[in-house]
Amino acid sequence: MKIGFFDSGLGGLTVMKAVSQLLPSYDYSFYGDTLHVPYGDKTEEEIYELTKAGVEHLFEEDCILVIIACNTASAETLRKLQDTFLVDEYPDRKILGVIIPMVEEVVACHAKRALLIATTRTVNSQKYEREFEKVKNAPELFSLATPTLAPLIEAGKIEEALAVVYPIIDELLEKGGESLILGCTHYALLREGIVDRYKEQLMVFSQDQIIPQKIYHYLEAHPEIKNLLTQVGTRNIHLTKHTHAYDQLLSSLLGGHFIGE
Ligand code: DGL
Repeated sequence: MKIGFFDSGLGGLTVMKAVSQLLPSYDYSFYGDTLHVPYGDKTEEEIYELTKAGVEHLFEEDCILVIIACNTASAETLRKLQDTFLVDEYPDRKILGVIIPMVEEVVACHAKRALLIATTRTVNSQKYEREFEKVKNAPELFSLATPTLAPLIEAGKIEEALAVVYPIIDELLEKGGESLILGCTHYALLREGIVDRYKEQLMVFSQDQIIPQKIYHYLEAHPEIKNLLTQVGTRNIHLTKHTHAYDQLLSSLLGGHFIGE
């Protein structure tokens, strides 16, 4: 059986790539709902139905474990998927999100004043705030919806997206903040540009750097799942809509050249 990754678009591929680099022998499947991206401005009900369809596709592809590599879908659907859909229809499978691991890492790194940037839905859900409330030594958290970023990144316009983010970071630093939480898996593609510009002035938290270790430890703690994982080393990518503009982004995300329809 495989490990599956779900995202509204291509951003979650950054997470799958990082996990598959740490644990290369397993088999991985990715489902990107490029037909419906962005999820950031959809209703909770729409996001639930679309996410459920994607997770179901991954289960039908023989994934025992699915990571919702999308903050918006994690914030709005994870609990309901785990408590109803899994229990009723796939009691032997698991679904994990990406928000709690991020919160754990931010706290472990002793962040003091952190800015969360994320989609409007993720910010409005207050999910990060609620998770930080449950732990000790949580940072003072500010959050800002940045709805233009995911569509820019999805279109491969990384420089334009960075131009939106730089003034936001400048203001954070002026206000005495030192940590930036990239609360959307698409934003992982901005990490390099941000780190190059701000260097040690800023701690940047990105799920592509956090989730691999978490999955490793999860599998160590759950041999009943780990032992069912096949180790052929396949990677399968399913997009609900493919455009040629995605080829370049897929190539830069995964390396090599994209060949095929
Ligand atoms: N990648 C998604 C996330 O982590 C969101 C992008 C979107 O669909 O708006 O939130």
